[in-house]
Amino acid sequence: MRVLGVNAVFHDPSAALIVDGRVVAAAEEERFSRRKHGKRPVPFSAWELPELAIRWCLAEAGLRAQDLDAVAYSFDPALCSAAGELGLHDPWDHLRQDYARRAPWFLAAAMPGLDPDAVRFVPHHVAHAASAGLLAPAPSSACLVLDGRGERASHLSGHYVDGQLEVLAAQALPHSLGLLYEDLTEHLGFLRSSDEYKVMALSSYGRPIHLDDFRGLVRTTPDGGFVTEKVDWEAYAPTLRGRPAADERELMGVHADLAASVQRRLEEVLLELARDVRERTGERLLTMAGGTALNCVANTVLARDAGFEQVWVQPAAGDAGTALGAAVHVALELEREGGQRAFVPEPMTTAGLGPGWSDAALAAALEAAALPYRTPADLAGTVADVLAADGVVAWFAGRSEFGPRALGHRSLLAHPGHAHNVERLNAVKGREQFRPVAPVVLLERAAEILDGPLPSPFMLFVHDVRPAWRERIPAVVHVDGTARAQTVDPDAEPALAALLRAFESRTGLPVLINTSLNTAGRPMVDSPRDALELFGSAPVDLLVLGPHVVHRGRVAEAAR
Ligand SMILES: [Fe+2]
Repeated sequence: MRVLGVNAVFHDPSAALIVDGRVVAAAEEERFSRRKHGKRPVPFSAWELPELAIRWCLAEAGLRAQDLDAVAYSFDPALCSAAGELGLHDPWDHLRQDYARRAPWFLAAAMPGLDPDAVRFVPHHVAHAASAGLLAPAPSSACLVLDGRGERASHLSGHYVDGQLEVLAAQALPHSLGLLYEDLTEHLGFLRSSDEYKVMALSSYGRPIHLDDFRGLVRTTPDGGFVTEKVDWEAYAPTLRGRPAADERELMGVHADLAASVQRRLEEVLLELARDVRERTGERLLTMAGGTALNCVANTVLARDAGFEQVWVQPAAGDAGTALGAAVHVALELEREGGQRAFVPEPMTTAGLGPGWSDAALAAALEAAALPYRTPADLAGTVADVLAADGVVAWFAGRSEFGPRALGHRSLLAHPGHAHNVERLNAVKGREQFRPVAPVVLLERAAEILDGPLPSPFMLFVHDVRPAWRERIPAVVHVDGTARAQTVDPDAEPALAALLRAFESRTGLPVLINTSLNTAGRPMVDSPRDALELFGSAPVDLLVLGPHVVHRGRVAEAAR
């Protein structure tokens, strides 16, 4: 069974391919087109397809469009209502429905050989749910989906039993926790549907002084849903919308307090929703997806207080992940329709589902760029020497990550013991200075350093850094004493684990700063060429491409 999943309607266009029950490939369009988030999240862009990601998925598996059993499209226009009926005020919203209805023909035009009848629509929140519930560590779970919006809802609360979803509740629009957070993001002068994580980071600088107000404005309902009243944002802090990048000091007062108030209320409401779905299902595992599930501060509250043994969040929790969820959902559906015993999807253990290159192809890229490179016998030791000497390393290893986090495949690494490295890396990446950088930690040492949900292979939770370690790794400790850590299991990520061990033997720290490999707000590096362009334009001391390394100093020497 071969099913291609496609996400196109709202934002973060992406494609994913399932072959015989296995996820073969998944990638976001932005990594190929080099346009952040792939496109603008407006109704006018709903026709645009992730053509480059689709082409790569098929090529990766050696398939043609006509070889596919189905294409799963993560939005079902039959479920839509007019924007006015939904309480939304977007005169162009109907374009989304029109374009989605025509998607089978758009897809057939973009993928010669595809029969438009092979396209199946999957309800947006079912696609999100499948990306979590069907790829989680166990086939049965309580499942929560929360995002800005789908066809006519903003939430799904469900129960997966042996791979079958029962929907328990779905909150209809216009009530939406995701849209509430997006509105706040825009009010604070950031880019909506993109910069919500900046608001979360900002919230830790504020005090939740408006929490009582927001307890009135945002509240759960007895049917398992919630209400979000219209918020007069100006009453809390003057808008920074449409202004050029806000002065960071300006953000730290009333704006940070507003962010803190909304963030705290979001955590409270999610906790009530999670407890509700636990009581209804009796499950011990909670699975989550939807853009709101990228709020790692809220996820941590759920892991601690919602009464589940484990919370598993799809690493590509935003809309990109719906391509993957839709593909798995339809693959199972086709097998059941064919009277076959449906496969049991393998739990997702890595986000490394994007393009990868052989060692020889990486060497060829370096030779084409006429760079003096080496292939050291002790790669971990060579890289650790540079890091221990406070160098910045661009680390390119294996297949690129699906989802917004760099998890040690396309990462910028640095020494966590020097506080100045936060500023240094944020400058390379063109980020605001209030944004924290995150640690990557050897799994076997994590409990000694961090208090919070472990293991944490996908960086979707925050951890309290234990007091004894705060001074030792100041660069990765946020203003509130937390860190959004990734833990590294040597069995899953042997090269990165070897590097962490080599760094520890030189510095006593089994920790590195890990931030995504990109510059100035661009999409993450995907190909060797992207990595070389980054190396040419940013103050990176060592470029690691698979087993090969390029020292900036040696490049300068060679040029003399
Ligand atoms: Fe979504």
